[in-house]
Amino acid sequence: MKLILLGPPGAGKGTQCKRIVDRYGMNHLSSGDILRAERSADTNLGRKAQSYMDSGALVPDDLIIEMMVGAMKKAGGGYVLDGFPRTVAQAEALDAALEKAGEQIDGIVNLVIDDQIIIGRMTGRRSCPKCGAVYHIENLKPKVDNICDKDGEPLVQRKDDKPEVVANRLKTYHEQTAAVVGYYTKTDKEIMTIDAAQSPEAVTASVFAKLDALSDQGR
Ligand code: AP5
Repeated sequence: MKLILLGPPGAGKGTQCKRIVDRYGMNHLSSGDILRAERSADTNLGRKAQSYMDSGALVPDDLIIEMMVGAMKKAGGGYVLDGFPRTVAQAEALDAALEKAGEQIDGIVNLVIDDQIIIGRMTGRRSCPKCGAVYHIENLKPKVDNICDKDGEPLVQRKDDKPEVVANRLKTYHEQTAAVVGYYTKTDKEIMTIDAAQSPEAVTASVFAKLDALSDQGR
């Protein structure tokens, strides 16, 4: 399956994508994770992206499109796109790349949630700098305080989870990214809308129910 997971920052895209790839055996292509890896490796792209990411603005479309189309080609097979496309221009470029490759997206999942809940989620988020696992200080605690369950690394808070940057990321979402949902509404693709304010397990159950039905249709 090839999927797109849409939703505002902090809606739980990364959390759900990790569960989706475990269940359906596909690649997780997160634009944010790829950009953070580029930054850690101090590449040209990572250096170019840094100031945009730190302020909560979007990295320019041309850089992102090249990066994500490259990641899709490298992944081959099934994948779930997380954080991409984030502008209508990115959605159009994705369509063009898929058409050129003779491929198509099988499903679009849209996580829907209020800004007020998002603010609490992002300011309480902690991540593993080594494996990328995501926790929350109240909602999804690690077994040992501040230590990753998977590899024992001390957890860190993302720089862009500071309250002032979170506010800017939400503004960017409403001004530039929400329109992507409208873009796909005009296509023949079904958008699977999920209430992301539920518990992580309830969100996962709703997503799996939709994706099980989708993969049954494909058989
Ligand atoms: P990116 O890394 O993509 O960030 P984001 O979209 O803002 O999403 P997040 O990773 O913050 O949240 P999430 O939805 O994955 O939530 P999570 O599962 O972690 O992008 C970062 C930056 O990179 C952007 O600002 C931009 O600069 C740049 N960028 C990336 N892609 C780009 C693109 N395509 N174009 C241009 N620029 C781009 O969950 C959040 C917290 O909530 C966690 O602590 C989690 O444990 C908790 N949680 C999750 N689900 C639940 C639940 N159901 N109930 C309670 N708590 C929950």
